[in-house]
Amino acid sequence: MRRRARFHTLRVSEVRPLTESSVEVTFAVPPELAGEFDYLAGQHVALRAHIDGREVRRSYSLCRAPSTSSGAAAGVRTVSVAIKRDQGGRFSTWAQTDLRPGDELDVMSPQGGFTSMLPDLDGAHVAAVAAGSGITPVMALASTVLARSETSRFTLVYTNRATTDVMFLEDLADLKDRYPTRLALHHVLSREQRSAPLLSGRIDDHRLRRILDALVLPETVDEWFLCGPFDLLQLCRDTLDDIGVDRAHVRYELFTTGEPGRDETDAGRPVIVRADEPVRTIEVTLDGQSSTIESPVSANESILSAALRVRPDVPFACAGGVCGTCRARLLVGSVTMTENYALEPDELDRGYVLTCQSHPTSDRVAVDYDV
Ligand SMILES: Cc1cc2nc3c(=O)[nH]c(=O)nc-3n(C[C@H](O)[C@H](O)[C@H](O)COP(=O)(O)OP(=O)(O)OC[C@H]3O[C@@H](n4cnc5c(N)ncnc54)[C@H](O)[C@@H]3O)c2cc1C
Ligand code: FES
Repeated sequence: MRRRARFHTLRVSEVRPLTESSVEVTFAVPPELAGEFDYLAGQHVALRAHIDGREVRRSYSLCRAPSTSSGAAAGVRTVSVAIKRDQGGRFSTWAQTDLRPGDELDVMSPQGGFTSMLPDLDGAHVAAVAAGSGITPVMALASTVLARSETSRFTLVYTNRATTDVMFLEDLADLKDRYPTRLALHHVLSREQRSAPLLSGRIDDHRLRRILDALVLPETVDEWFLCGPFDLLQLCRDTLDDIGVDRAHVRYELFTTGEPGRDETDAGRPVIVRADEPVRTIEVTLDGQSSTIESPVSANESILSAALRVRPDVPFACAGGVCGTCRARLLVGSVTMTENYALEPDELDRGYVLTCQSHPTSDRVAVDYDV
């Protein structure tokens, strides 16, 4: 499900505390926007707010199964995200302290490929390893996988520091009550003693292999979902590689690279082009309309930064190569990408690039956001 990423203004219908440092935020979707907010379990939205006079955009995964969004039964469409406060983080702190029911926020139509590729869930065994706020898309995935087939199974390994940090603690317990034999739920706590020593302590290579062997049984798993910090994802991917799991069955979602945030407000700033200066020509197609921008070679701008000067509606969120919102297809020329944590190898093979990370290396490049 891929549609043109576009912001719509939605009203906050509920802000529900999950832990001391996280909240679930639910938005009401008016009937005329219902199609724009159809989504697949595992997808995310970008939120846009003005905080202290500056525009801030951040991505958040949708935490409810598409069909079980709260209010769906009453005919009210909603979408919900869960936001964990990042120490010193601009948006997540603001969401904890300032966001209230009735407030309006710009919410982008759902995007992302952290979704199940299994053609049939009957008899399928899906496994996930999540850490901290990484549970958010996994909540939607687990609920969906278990609800869509009576013979599917889901195994979740969820790691946190202590019980008080566990987001969706009660919702997970409810899910377990509902599917006692088909959901296997393993909480791993790094700073709290659990009765099983295997589930107490940080997940390192040794503990991960023992958990996989004893509790997950990788040879029975049809699809894997990994969501958490960079180091944990790397560890899981390496270990799964090592034990022979085919990468084609492993999906992962990174929320942050751990690098300090980029100042995305730099994007789209005017660039002065001197008459005698060599330039690169960048052609951008969005909503069927093409625009051409001249970018000085010396500025080494990203395609996104250049494009925003003439098309302020070009989609982006993280500006850091993580969320994939700025994806476009390179039709002409060549680029180098600084970072890519979002595109899969098959998307790269088909010519997709992250425009926030792409710097032209040919005199002329053309990208299309519509394909
Ligand atoms: C696809 C995707 C889905 C996501 N889903 C979720 C989700 O479901 N739930 C969730 O909670 N998060 C999610 N995230 C992460 C989310 O988008 C934000 O990155 C997160 O909330 C932090 O944003 P912030 O504005 O609060 O922090 P920022 O202001 O961006 O800061 C992040 C961290 O960097 C530090 N920092 C900032 N600037 C500097 C600097 N100059 N030097 C040193 N340190 C600095 C801050 O102290 C903070 O710890 C997702 C991200 C992606 C890409
Ligand atoms: S805007 Fe997030 S990857 Fe480019």
